[in-house]
Amino acid sequence: MSTQGRFSNPFSAVFTGVFELFRKKETIRPLLPTDRLDGKNVLVTGANSGLGFGIAEWLVRRGAHVVLACRSDIPGAAERLQDKYPDASVEMRFVDLKDVDSIHAFAQGLLDDNVTVDILIDNAGVTPARARKTPAGLDEMFMVNYLSKFILAQQLLNAGIIPNNIRAGNARPGQIPRMIYISSDSHQDASAIDFNSFGVFENYRGPNRGVSLYSYNKLILNTFIVELAHRLQRNGIPDVAVHAICPGPVNSNIIRDAPPVAKAILKLVFALFFKKPIVAAEPVIYMAAAPELEGATGSYLHMNRPKRMDEKVYDPEVGRLLWERTAALAGSIAIAGPDSMKG
Ligand SMILES: NC(=O)c1ccc[n+]([C@@H]2O[C@H](COP(=O)([O-])OP(=O)(O)OC[C@H]3O[C@@H](n4cnc5c(N)ncnc54)[C@H](OP(=O)(O)O)[C@@H]3O)[C@@H](O)[C@H]2O)c1
Repeated sequence: MSTQGRFSNPFSAVFTGVFELFRKKETIRPLLPTDRLDGKNVLVTGANSGLGFGIAEWLVRRGAHVVLACRSDIPGAAERLQDKYPDASVEMRFVDLKDVDSIHAFAQGLLDDNVTVDILIDNAGVTPARARKTPAGLDEMFMVNYLSKFILAQQLLNAGIIPNNIRAGNARPGQIPRMIYISSDSHQDASAIDFNSFGVFENYRGPNRGVSLYSYNKLILNTFIVELAHRLQRNGIPDVAVHAICPGPVNSNIIRDAPPVAKAILKLVFALFFKKPIVAAEPVIYMAAAPELEGATGSYLHMNRPKRMDEKVYDPEVGRLLWERTAALAGSIAIAGPDSMKG
């Protein structure tokens, strides 16, 4: 598996991101004051940093109750929101997305506390410059950027934490929940999913391979998103809507694991050219709040531009196979948690 040029190393990936910022194409409308989320419970993963914190800030401004699902900065991130917006309705919950037991415990905690989720924004992601193993022996980037998202989705849907008819029979009339995944347009350069090496730990070293695998994992994620959207609709009407968005270049902490010299250079480029998280988060909030998206599913935004994902992610046979293989892998590492919560 590989990427084919634009996303083959951190510098060309950054250049591509900056170039995309200045391309003119059809865009979504700006957010309006009427795009409100009062009364909605919104769960955001990785909400303590970068884009996730920007998303949480917008959600607070739009009147949502925000559940910040994080592995660090608890309760710091919530306190920062509360200080800035005294009326903010926020709570923080611990989850380490590289650890399947932690995801189970997190979902069980939501269930125990009768928390329901109207909108999921699964944002957390990593770009390690060298391979790191999870407690289950998987690659951390594969786990955090893809497999955790599959597992969390299964648990939220099967347990009815995201109300729905297809899995849990507890849908609320007139309300279609939304699941929004933060992806990356770099997936467009990744080669097809290699099922022979699916989930197999690769001991890569160096940022070039890291960037390449990042794009590849986003391709896997997008293939899952298309398949999930398909599985969560009946006769073309979504029971739960599923969307994906690439935020474009964001001045976040995503390069925290880059080697020191590259990190210093990239930090400068990020600060000069990349969007502030609060700006990059605006189209994510559009996807969460726009009434015209009611009844839609499977849409993709690249920043504020609607477009198609790479054609590979729409192959139904690949989507079906990915689902099977992922469910088997998730089941093999799911040693804790009630049966209803497993993949
Ligand atoms: N920055 C960009 O230019 C860009 C471009 C395209 C797409 N994206 C996507 O945007 C999303 C957000 O990234 P970002 O740029 O905002 O980077 P960031 O500032 O590094 O934020 C990443 C978030 O993910 C969390 N996270 C990482 N591993 C986790 C784990 N094991 N369990 C729980 N949370 C974990 C981090 O928590 P900690 O703070 O505790 O580590 C942090 O909150 C990612 O999906 C990324 O792929 C970013």
